[in-house]
Amino acid sequence: MSTSASWRTHRCGDLRAEHIGEKVQLCGWAANRRDHGGVFFVDLRDRAGLVQLIADEDAPAEAGPALDALHAEDVIQITGTVRPRIAGQKNEDRDTGEVEVLVETVQVLSHAQRLPFEVLDELDAPEQLRMKHRYLDLRRAPMKRLMELRSRANHSIRTTLQGRDFIEVETPMMTRSTPEGARDYLVPSRVKPGSWYALPQSPQVFKQLCMVGGLDRYFQIARCMRDEDLRADRQPEFTQLDLEMSFVTEEDVYALVEAVVVALYRDVLGRELSAPFERMPYAEAIQKYASDKPDLRIPIEIVDLAGPGGQLGFMVFDGVLEKGGWVRGFRVPGGASLSRKQIDQIEQAAKDAGAGGAAWCKVTEDGATGPLSRFLEGDAGAAFLAALEAQPGDLVVTIADLPRRALVALDAVRRKAAELAEMVGEADRLVWITEFPLFEESDEGEWHPAHHPFTSPVLEDVEALAAGQKDGVRSRAYDLVLNGVELGSGSIRIHDRDLQQTLFSAIGIPPEEAEVRFTHLMEAFRYGAPPHGGFAIGLDRLYALMFGAASIRDVIAFPKTASGSCPLTEAPAPVDSEQLAELGLALDLPDTDGNASTDAP
Ligand code: AMO
Repeated sequence: MSTSASWRTHRCGDLRAEHIGEKVQLCGWAANRRDHGGVFFVDLRDRAGLVQLIADEDAPAEAGPALDALHAEDVIQITGTVRPRIAGQKNEDRDTGEVEVLVETVQVLSHAQRLPFEVLDELDAPEQLRMKHRYLDLRRAPMKRLMELRSRANHSIRTTLQGRDFIEVETPMMTRSTPEGARDYLVPSRVKPGSWYALPQSPQVFKQLCMVGGLDRYFQIARCMRDEDLRADRQPEFTQLDLEMSFVTEEDVYALVEAVVVALYRDVLGRELSAPFERMPYAEAIQKYASDKPDLRIPIEIVDLAGPGGQLGFMVFDGVLEKGGWVRGFRVPGGASLSRKQIDQIEQAAKDAGAGGAAWCKVTEDGATGPLSRFLEGDAGAAFLAALEAQPGDLVVTIADLPRRALVALDAVRRKAAELAEMVGEADRLVWITEFPLFEESDEGEWHPAHHPFTSPVLEDVEALAAGQKDGVRSRAYDLVLNGVELGSGSIRIHDRDLQQTLFSAIGIPPEEAEVRFTHLMEAFRYGAPPHGGFAIGLDRLYALMFGAASIRDVIAFPKTASGSCPLTEAPAPVDSEQLAELGLALDLPDTDGNASTDAP
């Protein structure tokens, strides 16, 4: 045993047969105390794992009672001797399972009170409670594993990028609004009352400024903050691997991102991905999969049925087609075996996506059955089924609606049908979606940048853009999609001041406003901006998928709930009125009846 004054000679989880006979001093958390007829056991846990402590007749008389007096999660220091477990008592599931530590002394370093939940690997405590006591949750082996994997993954990224001469740059957290399309989180200035910093939605402008600054290759594992409607794979505060490179084309960015992702899988999971990744133009993704993030593990392709669908004499189809809507659908091979209840779920998925429903039929050797079948008699019906390449045993699902709603519904029913018919393939499918449109139209008919306003149009489309065209103008933006999840986005940027002005005007930001909001970028572009482009990967999403985590919250040490709050710190929280007064702020909040009430500073 070490004679130094250090706390421990070994970590609990590191003890093996080679340590048998050694005197050890260990520290950790007491778990799983047992008394087997006067022989006392405790599992001692630290980050490295668990080791069994034992006090039997070979231990000093006070050791047994000392173990017996422990509470779950007391932090203790013990001394003892490593010995082999007796035959039949070995624990194959545990790395330390061949040995145990015969205890001599036990010292309690910190008492634990009764816990809100037990620290167990398999835990069914509500997530809110786990988040409130995250420090207990993190003691569980599955959570520790996720934190370790995340740390190794970040290390792999840094190694790959440093090896390629990238510079890691930290950009400001208190800055001006960045146009990523969400609301900003704002920070009031005390020294300049009435003025506000915005927390960055991404380091987009700063990384472009790094390029104007000649840094050539930038990266950052960057925190981003967005006040937006939260969904399962969104957090108000999340992490990006943010990249930017000068004098590059799309091909250079693809190759770099592929190198990073391939190295990540190899270093962290020991898995070889095949690169280059697949590619698919945006228009093809929309046409075949009704999504710009298609899940290519699902072997179902969507067919445009406007032609044959318009010949059936089916009023719903005719009405939609007259209004310029879509009739599209797909066959689910073998899907005729789905139950009525399962088909109801598919219809519900269409309704949840905002469509009226889904028209369906089953195909048998003797024709079709189900709601759509009565419109499928004769040659027109045969032509409709032929267009779908439907075979006996298939289920046919169709959506008829205005394009925007049809798109969302088709994507939803395709995913739902594949899940129910168990048609989601095992192998991961990474795909680049390329040639995005520069603009997309909102439900209100307004045109917004599909990516962000610094994305370069395809050069041949610049003239059309300058002439005011929006629909059909192509961009140099691309996304990376894994199994139907958008992992990341990027683009080749505009580096020309005039073109940037044209773009701002096209989206309704007048030159004066652009000068105010993006003066730093516009100014920088006056002094020699290199052609540049980049990418950002959402690391929480990527890690959750890579590590098989149940949600992105599980790969974040201290996540927030779906409503953006932190159960641990209870943020966001009120501040006292002096703090508000110092900032020159007064609250004007609706009271419970919805009336404004002023809380003077
Ligand atoms: P974008 O806004 O597409 O691009 O973001 C890039 C990636 O970040 C992840 N992501 C999120 N993850 C968790 N919670 C969120 N709220 C959230 N929002 C986004 C996604 C997404 O694909 N500046 C550009 C990149 C560039 O052009 O280089 C940007 O931020 O995985």
